[in-house]
Amino acid sequence: MMKALLLLGLVAVALCEPTRYIGDKVFRLWPVSDTHVSFIKDLASNAKVDFWSPDSADMVTVFTEVDIHIPASHADMVSVMLQQSGMDYRVLIEDMQTAMRQQFDNHQQTKAHNYMKYNRWTDIEAWVSSITSGNPALISRSTLGKTYEGRSMHLIKIGKNTGSTKPAIFIDCGIHAREWISPAFCQWFVQEAVSTYGSDSQMTSLLDQMDVFVLPVFNVDGYEHTWKSDRMWRKTRSRKSGSSCIGADPNRNFNAGWCTLGASSNPCSDTYCGSSMESEIEVQNVANFIRKNKSIIKAYLTIHSYSQLLLFPYSYKYDQAKDHAELMSVAESASEALRSLYGTRYTSGPGATTIYPAAGGSDDWAYDLGVKYSFTFELRDTGHYGFLLPESQIKPTCEETMLAVKYIAAHVQKNL
Ligand code: ARG
Ligand code: ZN
Repeated sequence: MMKALLLLGLVAVALCEPTRYIGDKVFRLWPVSDTHVSFIKDLASNAKVDFWSPDSADMVTVFTEVDIHIPASHADMVSVMLQQSGMDYRVLIEDMQTAMRQQFDNHQQTKAHNYMKYNRWTDIEAWVSSITSGNPALISRSTLGKTYEGRSMHLIKIGKNTGSTKPAIFIDCGIHAREWISPAFCQWFVQEAVSTYGSDSQMTSLLDQMDVFVLPVFNVDGYEHTWKSDRMWRKTRSRKSGSSCIGADPNRNFNAGWCTLGASSNPCSDTYCGSSMESEIEVQNVANFIRKNKSIIKAYLTIHSYSQLLLFPYSYKYDQAKDHAELMSVAESASEALRSLYGTRYTSGPGATTIYPAAGGSDDWAYDLGVKYSFTFELRDTGHYGFLLPESQIKPTCEETMLAVKYIAAHVQKNL
C-alpha cells in the first residue's frame, strides 16, 4: 500500500509538475492608441494574463511595450484576438516549458552552492554560513528577522574591521521572487568582494573605508515558492482574512506615497500594495534596519530584473528629486561602465518617467529617509528570456553589473 501510494505520488510529480507550462506563451504588444490600451486591459480582466512588463494591467499606457505570459489554454484565443485588434505584436516565448528548461543550461553536476547556477534557499543559507566562517576578517552576519513563513532573513556585512563604526552601503536582492538573476548577483557580489580585496585597489579601498550590507534574498518565502510551485510568483506569501489571494508586492509596501499610484488595492493583483504600509513583515524588517542605521547608510541599491534599467527617485511622483542632476550623472556613468564590458545597454532615469509611476517602492522610501544615493537596478535582459534568463548569462550579467555597482560605490566614497 505504502509503495503504491509512493509510486502514485512520484508519477503525479513526474507528470504534473513538468507539464505546468507546456504551450504557455509570452507575447510582446505595442499599443499605439487608447483602443489598444483598453483592449489590453479588457483582456487582462477576462483571460488569465500574467504581466511580465509592466508589472500589472493598471500600468499599461499608450506606447509602453507590454510583455504578457498567457497559459496554453488561452494562447490560441489570445492570438486570434490580437490579430483582430490590429495591434502590432510578436511572440517572445513560444513555449514556456522549453524556456524553463533552457534556464538551467549549466549542467555541471554540483550538489551544493554554485555561483553560476540558480541556488535553492537551503543552499544559499549554507553558503551564508560557509562564506562567513571562511572570511572572518572581512565578513560578519546577522539576521534582520523572520519572514512570514518563519525563514531567517540573513544579512551579510562585508568590510575590514576597523574597530569603529563605518559608513555603509546597503544592497538587497530578490524583493520579487521570480527575478532569479537578482539573488545570483548578491551572491556574486559577496564572493567578488572577498576574493578581490587586497588585489583590486578599488575594492580594497571600499572595504577599508566602508561596510557593505548585503541581503541576498529579501522575499525568501516567495523565492522558495518559485522553486516549489509557481516559477512566476512575484509577491510575498502572507495571508489575510477576507481574501483567498496570497501575498503583497513588497516593492509597493514601503512608506512612499503608499498605494497612491501604480499599485493596486486588490489583494489578487501582482502589484497589491498590502493591507497597510509595511504590512509585510519582510518590508518591516528591512525598513527597521535601515531606519536604525540611517546615520551610517550612505547608499541603497536594490536589484531587480528584467529591462536593463538604472532607476532613481522618484517613482511615486513626477517631481524631480532634489539631487536629480547628480543622480542622473552617476546613473549614466555607471551604465557606461557596465556597457564597456559586453556592450549591454542600460537606460537611466527617474522611475516615474523612465518606466511608470509606482508608489511604495524601497528606493523612494530610502531616499526620503535621507539616503541620497538610492538606485534600482533592472538587470538583463530586455525580454528575450525575461525572468527565465539562462544560467549561462549569470557570469556576464554579474560581471558587468559589478562595474556599475563599483562606479556608484566609488562616487559615494568620494562624497563621504
Ligand atoms: N520594476 C520595479 C517595480 O515595479 C521598478 C521599481 C522602480 N522603483 C519604484 N519605486 N517603483 O517594482
Ligand atoms: Zn522586481
